[in-house]
Amino acid sequence: MAFASTKSASLLLLLFFLVALPSLSHQQHIRLIDRDSPESPLFESSAATLADKWRRIHRRSVAYRDHFQAVMEGRRKLLSTPLAAENLQEAGFDQVGGEYLMEFTIGTPPVKVTGMLDVAGDFIWTQCEPCPNCSPHLGPLYDPSKSSTSTTFSCSSFECLAVPPGHVCRGNETCRYVRKNESGVETNGLLISDVLAIDGVTYFGKVPFGCGNDNSFSTRLAPARVGLTGNEYFSLAFRSNNSTPFTFSHCFRKDFDNPSAGNTSSELHLGKEARLNGRSSPLTLCPKGRNRFFSPTLLGMGVGTRALNLTRELVGGNCSIFFTSSTPLTFLKKPFFDLVASTVTEQAHLPELPRRANDPWDLCFNGTFQDLVGYLPKILVSFDGEVALPLWKEQIYAEVDHGRTCLLMAPTDGDNMIGTYFQMNRNIGYDLRRKSEYLLYLDPDHCG
Ligand SMILES: *[C@@H]1O[C@H](CO)[C@@H](O)[C@H](O)[C@H]1NC(C)=O
Ligand SMILES: *[C@@H]1O[C@H](CO)[C@@H](O)[C@H](O)[C@H]1NC(C)=O
Ligand SMILES: *[C@@H]1O[C@H](CO)[C@@H](O)[C@H](O)[C@H]1NC(C)=O
Ligand SMILES: *[C@@H]1O[C@H](CO)[C@@H](O)[C@H](O)[C@H]1NC(C)=O
Ligand SMILES: *[C@@H]1O[C@H](CO)[C@@H](O)[C@H](O)[C@H]1NC(C)=O
Ligand SMILES: *[C@@H]1O[C@H](CO)[C@@H](O)[C@H](O)[C@H]1NC(C)=O
Ligand SMILES: *[C@@H]1O[C@H](CO)[C@@H](O)[C@H](O)[C@H]1NC(C)=O
Repeated sequence: MAFASTKSASLLLLLFFLVALPSLSHQQHIRLIDRDSPESPLFESSAATLADKWRRIHRRSVAYRDHFQAVMEGRRKLLSTPLAAENLQEAGFDQVGGEYLMEFTIGTPPVKVTGMLDVAGDFIWTQCEPCPNCSPHLGPLYDPSKSSTSTTFSCSSFECLAVPPGHVCRGNETCRYVRKNESGVETNGLLISDVLAIDGVTYFGKVPFGCGNDNSFSTRLAPARVGLTGNEYFSLAFRSNNSTPFTFSHCFRKDFDNPSAGNTSSELHLGKEARLNGRSSPLTLCPKGRNRFFSPTLLGMGVGTRALNLTRELVGGNCSIFFTSSTPLTFLKKPFFDLVASTVTEQAHLPELPRRANDPWDLCFNGTFQDLVGYLPKILVSFDGEVALPLWKEQIYAEVDHGRTCLLMAPTDGDNMIGTYFQMNRNIGYDLRRKSEYLLYLDPDHCG
């Protein structure tokens, strides 16, 4: 299967990672690096054509969609498969890992780690030493044996017991994750806790995370992942002290007037730094298997001058939609997508371009973005609580090849996912402090 990649090995052991920051009040502004910006280790210099760039965006969106759906349906292989198998080989892990990178350090002395932010994600892990097959470009990796502040967990610790059964403590008093790759060969890693620092602010105390050893992603340029809300036991939102309420907000910025300016700075704010501005919409906590996600209630969608009739069958009812930081495209359930696409076509009064062979894009028109922008309809999405998300046309359509402008949405058989393009240049805040009332804040006028 796809994991049998040409580069030897088994998939990185993904580690579920508990994060219990000692005090979220010390948290601050965290700079997020757009994966396609020149600062990003994943930056690919201009060699790629416009069509290649957008094909990659499509591909990694689809790969994440499939990964997330697999996780939600409990199909993630033996807990640690980072992404669904289907698209991994083609896309490569670093192609699909997420859209925003954040830097932090682990250990004493500190080792710099670059990880993908995954707001809806359910785990945090990092690649550790030894990693015989890792690319040397990765630079030094965290090695728990060299950190004076690292500790392991015993098999009877709460953190270890919280790991789904069957994968830990194989003949050892140290909490260890074990997984099998596609060939049934076991790989493993440790549950570790160590000092974590973000932007120079250090957090002491139990910051447990998964530390993968004998793994070998081939081009692991961002060998860590930070899941924020996806799992009761293994993500940040649920591991904070009751006394340190959990809130966060983000601003994903893009300069639509100057699209090649990839280094526009995006931000994540945690704890007291979170910006809870604008109107709020109730979020439903939706358990799915071992994971969970926070779902707003979609109330309406307008395409151009038409208000769509959003029936329950079409949208999927409660718990069928969520915001993600890890796919640029927005995915809608197939019948819902079909309605949006046909309404866009109707409202645009433009001939739809026939689909090309091997073309990933579902709806395209003939012309540059500039040619067509006057014809293409706007979209407005509204959520319970009279929260409206009016989208700019740059968030909905893009010229994915010269003279060809396509809708930045695609269908899914799973849940509806609001991608990063739809979230650009808006402050989006999560207030998860009260179990009785989880809230999503959307500020359509400001960012950060
Ligand atoms: C599983 O791991 C073994 C040992 O690293 C490797 O030889 C084998 O190719 C791997 N199988 C797959 C499907 O990745
Ligand atoms: C980011 O963009 C600014 C201009 O907006 C430029 O001065 C700066 O050098 C860029 N940084 C990188 C790392 O490319
Ligand atoms: C038990 O864990 C320790 C600490 O990581 C490791 O050095 C040792 O090899 C493990 N033993 C077994 C049998 O897995
Ligand atoms: C958080 O919880 C830990 C352990 O339960 C406790 O030691 C610590 O004092 C708490 N922190 C705050 C800020 O309440
Ligand atoms: C919306 O669709 C449902 C089911 O097709 C239909 O019963 C209902 O009348 C429609 N509502 C409007 C306002 O068109
Ligand atoms: C769906 O969510 C709304 C509030 O957002 C709530 O009033 C309603 O009861 C929920 N429906 C179900 C079936 O859970
Ligand atoms: C697209 O537009 C160009 C220029 O207007 C035209 O020459 C070409 O035939 C059109 N292509 C299709 C497939 O309609």
